[in-house]
Amino acid sequence: MRNFTSVKDVADIGALVEKALQYKSNPLKDKALGAGKRMGLLFLNPSMRTRLSTQVAAANLGMECIVFNIGSEGWALEFEEGTIMNGTTVEHVKDAAPVLGKYFDILGLRTFPSLKNKADDYSELYIQQFIKYSDIPVVSLESATLHPLQSLTDLVTIIEFLSLKKKPKIVLSWAPHVKALPQCVANSFAEWVNAWGQADFVITHPKGYELDEKFTKGAAIIHDQAKALAGADIVYVKNWSAFTDYGKILSDDSNWMLTNKKLEVTNKARIMHCLPVRRNVELSDEVLDGKQSLITEEAGNRVWGAQAVISEILKSL
Ligand code: CP
Repeated sequence: MRNFTSVKDVADIGALVEKALQYKSNPLKDKALGAGKRMGLLFLNPSMRTRLSTQVAAANLGMECIVFNIGSEGWALEFEEGTIMNGTTVEHVKDAAPVLGKYFDILGLRTFPSLKNKADDYSELYIQQFIKYSDIPVVSLESATLHPLQSLTDLVTIIEFLSLKKKPKIVLSWAPHVKALPQCVANSFAEWVNAWGQADFVITHPKGYELDEKFTKGAAIIHDQAKALAGADIVYVKNWSAFTDYGKILSDDSNWMLTNKKLEVTNKARIMHCLPVRRNVELSDEVLDGKQSLITEEAGNRVWGAQAVISEILKSL
């Protein structure tokens, strides 16, 4: 593996999930693999889980990890080619990224979309420019449209906690939110579950919240949440803003928030959310604190997903 920006960078999903679970059983089994190697983690946006789990994962592999909150502490970066830089940006990525390539062996990058210009966001300009100019492997710590480390971990958690004697029913359920959020987590979850191909996959949301078909193709889209939840083994809850009417909040209908009553039609479904979560807006206290919730296990597993990916890249250096 050279870069990790989507499921397309993974040759064998099952093997990568297995590798993550092996690290969970024995975190330090490859402690020598990253000795003498250094990973830079660049954050243009806030993070808790991604930042800390990646640091722990790199340390488990014997790497040194340096975090740079470039969005708040660094020079304002320019990403467009050929720009006359007489505005607010101070340094072009084509000058900054090669320097970072001299300091580090692997680079991790977190960016968010603008949610204003769909074409720009969906071109993934920021992460693509770092890949182009850094000359070292780049790991997405969430990009404008995808969150592959989250989705890998979600699959690890599903496989860990479900008995896969029968094909599981996985439901991605839109939830209300007070802010317009990216489509990244939902796009990425859909892309990974579809690529895995071992589930009956349903996506449920109010009309107007259809995601980009290039990620969802293969899933059943159902606008009736109760119908979608029937028989579900996993319910993955997430808010996203509209893709078609780009970045807009079309509904904040609190009836879409999951409750224990709604879960009665499921197959005692386990509940997942990537966190952070707005309690009693996206998900009720009773569901988050209930026995069926997997949210803490899911976030804990972020270490093993990241460790599996970093170790694959280290082997290719
Ligand atoms: N799920 C997730 O990416 O969390 P952070 O934003 O805290 O990294």
